Amino acid sequence: MNLNIAVLPGDGIGPEVTDQAVKVLKAIAMEYDHNFKFTYAPVGAIAIDKHGDPLPESTLDICKSHDAILFGAIGHPKYDNDPSAKIRPEQGLLKLRKECGLYANIRPVKAYDTLLDKSPLKQDIIKDTDISIYRELTGGIYFGKKQLSDDGNTASDLCEYTRHEIERITHLAFKAAKSRRNKVTLVDKANVLESSRLWRKVVGEVAKSYPDVELDFLFVDNAAMQMILNPKQFDVILTENMFGDIISDEASVIGGSIGLLASASVGDKHSMFEPIHGSFPQATGKGIANPVASILSAAMLLDHFELYNEANTIRTAVEKSLKLHITTPDLNTKYDNITTSKVGDFIEDYINNPEDSNLNFTNIHLGQSTII
Ligand code: IPM
Ligand code: MG
Repeated sequence: MNLNIAVLPGDGIGPEVTDQAVKVLKAIAMEYDHNFKFTYAPVGAIAIDKHGDPLPESTLDICKSHDAILFGAIGHPKYDNDPSAKIRPEQGLLKLRKECGLYANIRPVKAYDTLLDKSPLKQDIIKDTDISIYRELTGGIYFGKKQLSDDGNTASDLCEYTRHEIERITHLAFKAAKSRRNKVTLVDKANVLESSRLWRKVVGEVAKSYPDVELDFLFVDNAAMQMILNPKQFDVILTENMFGDIISDEASVIGGSIGLLASASVGDKHSMFEPIHGSFPQATGKGIANPVASILSAAMLLDHFELYNEANTIRTAVEKSLKLHITTPDLNTKYDNITTSKVGDFIEDYINNPEDSNLNFTNIHLGQSTII
């Protein structure tokens, strides 16, 4: 298959983790005889520094004219600590989502057997957790009208949803549930918010077309609690933009590190794949950023183009790396100096020569006197 992929590494650890995902995609292209072409473009704080715009027109054009977008991370402390900044890196990501119509953000959450002890939650609570979060991504409070009064003392953000916006992601969530465990949980705040009541109504109507799928409802405050009390009860979680942002970070605790969570953002025309973690500025350039979320996002990219074997090959290689403790310090208690690119190298090698994995394991540790 020929795939033209726009690569937007962005800020902080974005470039170093994205490098590993590209490395792994190149290994897949070689093994399975595909032709993947990568075009790099700036986004985020780095694009503000260079072009005065977090999403330059040329970057948007590249994204729209390519088959898929591989995204790193955006954000910089100089903007986080300055609420009066008019131009912010995050605006680039939000505009990209909106302009490309990426209305459904899919975030899988899984407890890996080999990492059960890395989560602060009890092992028997998280073992076998397998959730797919469907977060609406181009509506709600993120995109509603924003206002600040002239005296600067009153501010508001409007949370608005249309039936159409709710319907299209609801269909995707129900279709996903059909190929999983046939359950959708709508997370909302229908006891307080009008927009949530519209979600309940519309989702209930759409559910009638999927009689095999069970639908239940949870208020978001309760859902936040259930997520850590009994995460196994969830199959597909469907929710609006901001609730999805919050509960997906919470859910990352189940896997043991936010550095493991991948995501796909899809619409009718375009698709983008990005780790859910942010730019982690303190770690930039230190080689400690976990590249797995970015690598698993590349696997979701392959799934999107129905290259299922290829995607599963990446997942097998990632699981092997986790089993052998070839992981960055956020997960590693056994070895202390396995870098971002070493993890990428191992996964790349495993894809190219799965039988030689033990050999690679030895190579990985050569020269690391502290760990042998
Ligand atoms: C995410 C991030 C973004 C969001 C930020 C960076 C704007 O937290 O993708 O979850 O809030 O959607
Ligand atoms: Mg977030």
